[in-house]
Amino acid sequence: MSGSLMPAGPSAVVSGLGTCLPPRVVSNEELSRQLDTSDEWIVRRTGIRRRHVIEPGSSTSVLATEAGRRALKSAQCDRADAVVLATSTPDRPCPATAPEVASALGLGPVPAFDVAAVCAGFVYALATGAGLISTGVAQRVLVIGADTFSTILDPEDRTTRAIFGDGAGAVVLRRGEPDEPGALGPFDLGSDGELAELIMIPAGGSRQRATGVPAAAGGEYFAMQGKPVFKQAVIRMSESVRRVLALAGWSVGQVDRLVAHQANSRILSALADHLTVPHDRVVSNIDRVGNTVAASIPLALADGGLQPGEKVLITSFGGGLSWGSTVLSWPDVIPG
Ligand code: UT7
Repeated sequence: MSGSLMPAGPSAVVSGLGTCLPPRVVSNEELSRQLDTSDEWIVRRTGIRRRHVIEPGSSTSVLATEAGRRALKSAQCDRADAVVLATSTPDRPCPATAPEVASALGLGPVPAFDVAAVCAGFVYALATGAGLISTGVAQRVLVIGADTFSTILDPEDRTTRAIFGDGAGAVVLRRGEPDEPGALGPFDLGSDGELAELIMIPAGGSRQRATGVPAAAGGEYFAMQGKPVFKQAVIRMSESVRRVLALAGWSVGQVDRLVAHQANSRILSALADHLTVPHDRVVSNIDRVGNTVAASIPLALADGGLQPGEKVLITSFGGGLSWGSTVLSWPDVIPG
């Protein structure tokens, strides 16, 4: 159920970081005027105070393109040989969104494709980008995580509307050496499809369409069973972290910063306790952005005030179920 990847040959080195949040901010107070919820409940149960959402007419590719542009600028380069976009809210069900992003960035006819692993998507995309470099397919890869869950939430669902926000983040990976700052270490990736029903959009895919019966009312909306997902998040990320640390030869005590998927501040606390990571080493920006799905990890990397040379542990978990972790020594990059 779980796979690991030790980098073979050249390493993928993080050389740029960029993010994009849509300008519109939705506060807990605004949500409380629309739904039976309160700032007090949302802050106490999730740690979230506000989130960003796109305006009508915008889309995932708009955010992804801007985050990609800023990451390339941060890396002081204007080209990439491949684009890997982690998203579960593509502009359209078909084709992938990454080719349009690559074209909008003027990258030419480079390989570009989407990776769908929901909240674990960015770590899966990082591993994919590292693979493209280690196999010689690309020298430089733009890896983006972008999602606009505001477009798939049930407007009446006070729980999911309180949690999710829109956003995008991207890193540039370049070919380099394993001992360089920024070189991605080993990966631990895994999935468990037996628990797929915990996080899903029931309708709109081949399973529902093959019945010839129109989708049931509300079937097109994202649905999540919060409590079991909470437990799975803590268990799966803890296990994945232990495996990746063993592969990297790091002890928990060596970790300077834990950058975990920002799903709920209580999950971050429970994870830190499970792993015995001091809470002041845990990066958290969930109060300002909520759960931004595939954008969560790069947004946290950019907001975390990470210092060059710090040992950074990244872990993520989401629908599938799927999860993934990796490590790196933080490079001297200025987030754009
Ligand atoms: O990103 C992918 C992974 N996702 C996650 O990791 C999310 C994991 N799950 C969670 O973060 C939490 O389970 C939630 C934040 C989703 C929910 O928190 P909870 O403490 O598990 O609440 P609950 O679902 O057990 O609901 C407790 C109560 C219920 O009321 P009753 O039945 O006790 O009367 C809910 O209806 O809280 C109610 N509730 C709310 N009340 C006010 C649920 N959402 C809200 C809300 N405002 N927004």
